Amino acid sequence: NPLKPRVIYSSEQARLIAKKRIPRIIFDFIDGATGTESTPKRNFAAFDKIKLQPRVLKNVSVRNLNTSLLSEKFSLPFGFSPMGMSGLSCPNADSFLAKIAIEKNIPVVASTAASISLENMRNKAGEHSWFQLYSASTLDETLPLIERARAAGYKKLVLTVDVPQVSKRIRDLQNGFAMPFKMGPIQFIDFACHPWWSIPMLLNGVPFPENFLVDGKKEFKRDADRSAADWDFLKKLRDIWTGNLVIKGVTHSEDALRIKKIGCDAIWVSNHGGRQLDSAPAAIDKLSLIRTAVGKQFPLIFDSGVRSGDDIVKALALGANFVMLGRPILYSLAAGGESGLNSFVESISDELSTVMAQLGLTSISQIDKNCLVGSS
Ligand code: FNR
Repeated sequence: NPLKPRVIYSSEQARLIAKKRIPRIIFDFIDGATGTESTPKRNFAAFDKIKLQPRVLKNVSVRNLNTSLLSEKFSLPFGFSPMGMSGLSCPNADSFLAKIAIEKNIPVVASTAASISLENMRNKAGEHSWFQLYSASTLDETLPLIERARAAGYKKLVLTVDVPQVSKRIRDLQNGFAMPFKMGPIQFIDFACHPWWSIPMLLNGVPFPENFLVDGKKEFKRDADRSAADWDFLKKLRDIWTGNLVIKGVTHSEDALRIKKIGCDAIWVSNHGGRQLDSAPAAIDKLSLIRTAVGKQFPLIFDSGVRSGDDIVKALALGANFVMLGRPILYSLAAGGESGLNSFVESISDELSTVMAQLGLTSISQIDKNCLVGSS
């Protein structure tokens, strides 16, 4: 029964429940990656290789998970990555993301391809919401969306730069995943076999990428060509966006340095969870090089492969100031709706706190390279 509150202990548990509970076509959209799906595996393997060094007798009885980023204070050092069509995970998923971001005092990043309009997300999540921008090829074509974000009150804009072209995901192609849904016999059977998902979804209205309503008409441009965007584009965007500008999808230190020089406020190191390049390096393996390139003070955000409290500590130790969670958030929503997500956030926070105790740490700012085996 999906209405039963769920206790989620780990991302993998949530993933397995989600796999049973939601239609295959939806699970594969969330879980899948590009090509042979080797990049997510590389992300996990790289995290696995990193070892944390316990320290003892440090009096860790009071531990604090607060941190600050871009002049804001957060109660936890992580937030929710932007994910298009999150609303497919469970009915009202976007409202749950907003509600829990407020309750836990963490950021939620609304995607351009979100299943809720950027205005609606801002109404629900207020200052906790940031807006993620997928640009068109030219700034002129992108201006209306930027203007909407500004008018809605967003102060933090995240420009995703690792999707010059949408990469193909084989599972989606095989399943006939398309927006809006194409309802053929395979999809019909898939949905009929998962009534706990399908019935409430139909009653609530099938999610749609609301930011793409053009003149009241549903016009979804997931494959919009943004391949012509270049450094000049970024300079112009920097000039017109007066709030914080964060650049997401960076794994090369030269790119990072150039972004810093243009005057952006933060870099988000990410390989998009392997959804864009099948042979990409593990994002975590590039983090420390990027930290060295941009210097100690420059804000770095990290995602791609973070699944546990241990992983959060590893990313912070390698130079991130803040971590974002991707798929585990959608697995938890799919597994147990609001209670599933709430429970996962609590579980990963507890894990983080316990790992800090193991390492002899009482605050997030103490997490550094000395936490890693091999550093001393
Ligand atoms: C994403 N991601 C993403 N990123 C982005 O900038 N805009 C978007 O619209 C989306 N959409 C999206 C949908 C789904 C279903 C997933 C799973 C991911 C990428 C996301 O922000 C993040 O970078 C990755 O999810 C991180 O990898 P892990 O931790 O999920 O493996």
